[in-house]
Amino acid sequence: MATYVQLNTGAKMPILGLGTWKSPPGQVTAAVMAAIDAGYRHFDCAYVYQNENEVGEGIQKKIKEGVVKREDLFVVSKLWCTFHEKSLVKGACQKTLASLKLDYLDLYLIHWPVGFKAGEDLFPADDKGMSIPGNTDLLQTWEAMEELVDAGLAKAVGISNFNHEQIERILNKPGLKYKPANNQVECHPYLTQEKLINYCQSKGISVTAYSPLGSPDRPWAKPEDPSLLDDPKIKEIAAKHNKTAAQVLIRFHIQRNVIVIPKSVTPQRIVENFKVFDFELTKEEMATILSFNRNWRACAMSMSQNHKEYPFNAEY
Ligand SMILES: NC(=O)c1ccc[n+]([C@@H]2O[C@H](COP(=O)([O-])OP(=O)(O)OC[C@H]3O[C@@H](n4cnc5c(N)ncnc54)[C@H](OP(=O)(O)O)[C@@H]3O)[C@@H](O)[C@H]2O)c1
Ligand SMILES: *[C@@H]1O[C@H](CO)[C@@H](O)[C@H](O)[C@H]1NC(C)=O
Repeated sequence: MATYVQLNTGAKMPILGLGTWKSPPGQVTAAVMAAIDAGYRHFDCAYVYQNENEVGEGIQKKIKEGVVKREDLFVVSKLWCTFHEKSLVKGACQKTLASLKLDYLDLYLIHWPVGFKAGEDLFPADDKGMSIPGNTDLLQTWEAMEELVDAGLAKAVGISNFNHEQIERILNKPGLKYKPANNQVECHPYLTQEKLINYCQSKGISVTAYSPLGSPDRPWAKPEDPSLLDDPKIKEIAAKHNKTAAQVLIRFHIQRNVIVIPKSVTPQRIVENFKVFDFELTKEEMATILSFNRNWRACAMSMSQNHKEYPFNAEY
């Protein structure tokens, strides 16, 4: 049985969800359906993944089959960087809702703190390949996010890839109406995020760990990059519990009260990744895994390194 993390809105967010970045449109409907059959109730989506229509089809089919009801599900999506202008936020959310075939999201996140030039191109870039910034302010975008809650389009709103200074700015905003309910960040044994997680949890902001398996299918992966799933020390811990490396990598977050969203389109792995509620890593194993930190990022958003809101120059 999956457990939950209670958000500062009072809602319960399932601690384990299915990631959908890079899930091909032709496979993700079946993956979502397999996941619901396996017990998943949380789906992590985004406009920029360009597969929300097909994710929505899987959800819709399982609702039609009577396997789940909408209110049993926790669906997350994200505002892409080209929609940070206050006037564009509601339309972007409505587009996502139409694709997902839903009338509300459980959680809608600002995908990245960096705003891009508005327009059709999702990754507007200059001739050096660097992102072209918009001229929006995070606090303005946040106000538009708050309006989505008041309009009933999102039950909760949050952020993703924000550092603690950016979060602090939102929390200190004059007239703040809703605190972020969640910060979704990369997290795994090579990027343990102790300071950021402590900061968020101390402020009542839940944390979701993305790329928990190290995102081996990220398009920019290099052969010399470290591989979590092949790490002999992770495998050794897994063997002690008769579990797979993936299951240990997922369980690690659950024991920190961090929500985790492994992606797979492989039915057998979707099932495997959910079998993480029947074992416990010892205190010593948790400490050992934390000691593997090397501040390595699978998702560094390098094209925005010189953006004024680039999040990864701050210590945390
Ligand atoms: N907010 C953000 O900026 C952001 C950034 C990155 C990711 N995310 C979210 O986080 C989710 C997860 O991160 P991710 O997609 O980067 O990577 P991930 O979940 O760390 O890894 C996904 C990869 O691992 C493989 N895999 C899954 N289960 C496995 C298992 N049991 N054994 C071996 N291999 C396994 C998958 O293969 P198959 O699919 O072929 O089975 C896929 O290649 C994303 O899908 C997305 O929803 C958010
Ligand atoms: C180890 O796990 C596998 C797969 O879940 C299971 O079939 C097997 O019975 C387990 N073995 C032991 C010794 O628990």
